[in-house]
Parts: sequence; C-alpha cells; structure tokens
Amino acid sequence: MDTKKIQAAKQYIHSKIMEAPDLGLILGSGLGVLADEINNAITIPYSDIPGFPKSTVAGHKGQLVFGDIEGVQVVAMQGRFHYYEGYSMELVTLPVRVMKELGVQTIIVTNAAGGVNTSYQPGDLMLIKDHINFFGTNPLIGPNEERYGPRFPDMSSAYSKKLLQLALQVADEENIRVRKGVYVGMTGPTYETPAEIKMVRSFGGDAVGMSTVPEVIVAKHSNIEVLGITCISNMAAGILDQPLTHDEVIETTEMVKLKFLSFVKAIVRKMNGG
Ligand code: 6GU
Repeated sequence: MDTKKIQAAKQYIHSKIMEAPDLGLILGSGLGVLADEINNAITIPYSDIPGFPKSTVAGHKGQLVFGDIEGVQVVAMQGRFHYYEGYSMELVTLPVRVMKELGVQTIIVTNAAGGVNTSYQPGDLMLIKDHINFFGTNPLIGPNEERYGPRFPDMSSAYSKKLLQLALQVADEENIRVRKGVYVGMTGPTYETPAEIKMVRSFGGDAVGMSTVPEVIVAKHSNIEVLGITCISNMAAGILDQPLTHDEVIETTEMVKLKFLSFVKAIVRKMNGG
C-alpha cells in the first residue's frame, strides 16, 4: 500500500474542494448519471489527481464529482478502475483509500452485473447482501498498514445490515421492486461460460460482475459502512439462448436509469434522516 500516493491524492483534492464528503458513491457502467444530480458540483478528472490511473471503458467517464445530494456532502466516482483493464488491485482500490482519508464514513457502491439467479430479470435492482471474491487475489495482500485497518479483517458483515434494512424500507415506500442477493466478483474481461455460471449458482451466487469486491474489501478494512446496489443488466451465460454483449449492458442501464436515480436519492434522503 502506497501511503505517499494516498496522501498526495488527498492533498491535491483538499486544495480543490470546500467541504469534506461524508458519503462516497461508486458508480458502475451506465450508472454515472447519478453524478449529474449533484448540486454545487466540483469536478476533478482522474487524470489531474496524482497517482490516479485513467479509466478506459466505454460508458465510464473518469472523474470525481464533489457536492451535495439531498443535503448530504458526497463524492462520486463517475467511472471506476477495473482489474481487467490491467490495473493492480492497489490502483483499483486507491480511490476508496482516498475517500476514507477525505472523511467518508459510508459508501454506496453500484454496478451492472449478469443475473445468475433464474428468477431475476434484466432491469432488476439487487441489494447486495454478501459477496464471493472470485478474483483469485485480494487487494490487502502485502504488508498491512495498521493505521488503516487490521491484518485479518472480519468479513462476516461486509455489507451493512443497517443500510440494507434502510434500503429495503425505501424500496417499499417508493414502490421499487428490489432483490436481495450475493454478488460474485470475477476478473473478466470475458463473460463466463455456461458451465462457470452453473458453478456460480451452485455456490450460492445470484449475480456476477467484474468489480465491487476489491473496493468493498478495502472499505471494510478501513471501517467504512457499505451499501451495494447491482443493476441486473442481462442474464448470465447459458440462461437465455442468446449471446452476451456490452451493448446490452449499456441499453439496460439506460432503461433503468430513472428508477436507479430515484432509488439512490431516496436512500440518501433517508440516511440523512428525511
Ligand atoms: Cl454475465 N458477467 C460478468 N462477469 N460481468 C457482467 C456480466 C456478466 N453482465 C454484466 N457484467
């Protein structure tokens, strides 16, 4: 863990913002529109931040947006860094370290993922109740920085039960149908084979994607509360008789955009006591 890099990024950002954020938003493929809802926005491109890599995937913008939503000071990552892009686990999770240093205590992490649970449909929103790390590595491998967190972090409640309950209550109040499930994180960039999806299902996975797990591990390490929201953008391989495409992922998230926006905004409002 490069503490100098974390500090350099923090200092640069501090020189640009007025108020420290309390809530971090990590916005997945096609879900970056939430950052457009931020009031009094201050935008910092990743390319300006010392130590930050440049995000490369289509549908991801590549900037931090600071400001307020529903009266809460937030920092949004419009676009994230994926392991499949060739970034190290350290770089993939650097923004979470920086958020913590800036004062963030809670993160809402979002993603688009394939539905593994056969009762799911494209366009469904799934609250993440737990995850399976199938990356074959872990962002905390290497010397531990005790100042940031423990050597052997407990993962028995990586996703805050309190925030999950709050989100379920909001979904009920707003008449938004949500699922509750287990997110399985894989490296990508290939989508899975039908045999792999069968395995994931038998292991207890409900959705499969290429992100989120590294960021949540680092958030948990540094004692940040996490709420995870998955947009089921397509069914995983072997469920429907059709090939998987990134275009379908973008089309579905485009369709779900308004539901997603009003859901997250209502969650933030409720977090703020509203
Ligand atoms: Cl089916 N698999 C993975 N790994 N990521 C996805 C996906 C599937 N659909 C959207 N993202």
